[in-house]
Amino acid sequence: MTQCFFEYATPKILVIRSKKVGTVNRLIQALIIAYVIGYVCVLKRGYQDTDSVISSVTTKVKGIALTDTPDLGLRVWDVADYIIPPQEESSFFVLTNMIITPNQTQSHCPEVPGLNCSWTCTSDADCTPGLKDVRGNGVQTGNCVNYNATVKTCEVLAWCPLESEEVNMTKPPMLADAENFTVLIKNNIRYPKFNFNKRNILPHITRDYLTHCIYNATTDPDCPIFTLKYIVSAAQEDFQTMAMLGGVIGIQIRWDCDLDMPASWCIPRYSFRRLDNKDPENNVAPGYNFRFAKYYKTANDVEVRTLIKGFGIRFDVMVFGEAGKFSIVPMLLNIGAGLALLGVVTVVCDWIVLTFMKKKHQYAEEKYSYVDDFGLLSETAE
Ligand SMILES: *[C@@H]1O[C@H](CO)[C@@H](O)[C@H](O)[C@H]1NC(C)=O
Repeated sequence: MTQCFFEYATPKILVIRSKKVGTVNRLIQALIIAYVIGYVCVLKRGYQDTDSVISSVTTKVKGIALTDTPDLGLRVWDVADYIIPPQEESSFFVLTNMIITPNQTQSHCPEVPGLNCSWTCTSDADCTPGLKDVRGNGVQTGNCVNYNATVKTCEVLAWCPLESEEVNMTKPPMLADAENFTVLIKNNIRYPKFNFNKRNILPHITRDYLTHCIYNATTDPDCPIFTLKYIVSAAQEDFQTMAMLGGVIGIQIRWDCDLDMPASWCIPRYSFRRLDNKDPENNVAPGYNFRFAKYYKTANDVEVRTLIKGFGIRFDVMVFGEAGKFSIVPMLLNIGAGLALLGVVTVVCDWIVLTFMKKKHQYAEEKYSYVDDFGLLSETAE
């Protein structure tokens, strides 16, 4: 019993002096160490604890546009006219083109014929009183009336006159001047785990610089003021073409920070890309548009509205990033995992020695000692 207790078990080690196995052994060891140091520590910074960014974004667009159309005459557009709605979360919409239908009142007028001419008629019998079709513009009265000299359509009760479908979308877009609008993007970020705050108006930026700077990736990468044309062309698009039918552009702000380095090295990187589909092959329903109206009353108390089908570009600001800072726990975890990999070396080398070497049987004899049943053993000893 005491013999059992006062014992220490230690594995016997078989050293194989072979150039072949020795080389394989060192090679695999070197690979694993290179992986742990090069990839895990240097490249992936496995000694750091990481946290992902939380952020807030506010934007302010500036610029004036001038239009001269037969409907409206000479008209100046300022921020309150073309930014819809005035405030959005991490995003802003700039109106660039529109179809305006002024002086609409609740009255009767002929339905527009429609692309597949579904509203054309030859007599009152073709129209159904009270029909409300989702694709129509109003409630049918049951009369068939002249739409123009050649075409007759069903009459509807609606906001009349109706928006014309065959308005030719003039090129350039109505607010072509929008390409020179600027936007100030203010972005505050925080890495809560490390109690680290920063904003994209960097500490060295002065009030004076901010009044005249314009972002440019090569010459002025710290300026948080962008021209819309620059954003759109950085997303590989042409502003005037995109402004015709509208679209969605993503402004990506990446904050990748190594907080073991000075805080001034942690700066935002901007990139831009188009988010909606502009594939010319399958371009059904392209662009981005919506309708809105401005309501007023005439002197004799009739409610009148101006309908606007607005086309424009929505800019979505997306903030992402990861920060890392030295921490003992992830470091030990990563080094531990790396060292555990060294166990693979023994498995591989044993396999080579016992399978491929010429003297594999001799090695096997040396490696494994066989002990027979103790009963038999004591018998032979006697
Ligand atoms: C935008 O500004 C540039 C330079 O000031 C000018 O050449 C260009 O005509 C402007 N674009 C529009 C559409 O007015």
